[in-house]
Amino acid sequence: MKYVQLGRTGIEVSAVAMGCMSLRADTEAPGKDAVRQAYEAGITFFDTADVYSRGESETILGQALREAGIPRDKVVIATKCGIIFQGMDPAYAYKAYDLSPGYLKASCEASLKRLGIEYVDLYQPHRIDYLTHPEETARALEDLRTEGKIRHAGVSNYTADEIRALSAYIPLASLQTQFSLLHMEPLETGLAAVCQEKGMATLCWSPLHKGVLTGSKSLPHDDWQLQREAGVVAQLRSFAQDYGVSLAQLSLAWLMQQPGPVIPLVGTANAEHIAEAAAAVDLVLERDDWYELMVIARGRAMPWGQRPYVYIKER
Ligand SMILES: NC(=O)c1ccc[n+]([C@@H]2O[C@H](COP(=O)([O-])OP(=O)(O)OC[C@H]3O[C@@H](n4cnc5c(N)ncnc54)[C@H](OP(=O)(O)O)[C@@H]3O)[C@@H](O)[C@H]2O)c1
Repeated sequence: MKYVQLGRTGIEVSAVAMGCMSLRADTEAPGKDAVRQAYEAGITFFDTADVYSRGESETILGQALREAGIPRDKVVIATKCGIIFQGMDPAYAYKAYDLSPGYLKASCEASLKRLGIEYVDLYQPHRIDYLTHPEETARALEDLRTEGKIRHAGVSNYTADEIRALSAYIPLASLQTQFSLLHMEPLETGLAAVCQEKGMATLCWSPLHKGVLTGSKSLPHDDWQLQREAGVVAQLRSFAQDYGVSLAQLSLAWLMQQPGPVIPLVGTANAEHIAEAAAAVDLVLERDDWYELMVIARGRAMPWGQRPYVYIKER
């Protein structure tokens, strides 16, 4: 395993992290095994959230680490807050957000209780709350840090400007954002560059585009999107053969090769898939090949002439 710095925190984390969104009560046993297997494969960085299966993910992660006898200080635990639990129907779960100090502090207490730990290493507002000034959110995060309940703050799904606003009041260790060969907005909007400016790590959610980039899954989409995904998968297949690796490894290596660090949060509880992800940290693509994949995925050549002044979403 390779280890990288989590922003400017001085904390080292594995170059690939385990995303724990799929840990839930009905798959508790394999989920716990997966946490142990990930640790044995050298993965020390685990990402969860209070909303994942309404807290079950946090509970199972905490239990799995304890039952495997993994010392608390050998792992880096990241969780998230700010999405209000709402009803049981996931379709309505993400209607409202709250990053006000009272809500944040109560959420943090609840997460610590479910995880069964004294402190969270990385606490991340899950999405922006338009009704709370960033200075207030920052003060709450700072209080949690002073009380020893969190070590560092990061953000999730923030835009570049939202990062600037919050980081005016508190240093941020990381941004968690959707990022993969099939979702390159962080590169195209300058979000990745802002992370570099601020010394923040970029944590990529759905780094395998929910499994599509492994060549073994497809999403229910319109035709044009399926065609685009098929094109990227076909190119990955050809490169994977040349390099003697899997499509998943190639897709993860493509992310990790960027400076930052850029850390994929791989969403699997399958032992083989965890081992595959862990082995991807040693894969380095030729510079030409890295760009070739980018060109195929964005659907157009790299610019030679003047770049547009304003980013226009083309897909
Ligand atoms: N901040 C946010 O808003 C946000 C949103 C979404 C996710 N996240 C974070 O990101 C993490 C990952 O998200 P995700 O689950 O969408 O990511 P993902 O890793 O892109 O997709 C997971 C899917 O890929 C499959 N897979 C993984 N490795 C594979 C391999 N080697 N071969 C074949 N299939 C493979 C998994 O299947 P198997 O189960 O069969 O392995 C699963 O279906 C989450 O757990 C969470 O921590 C954050």
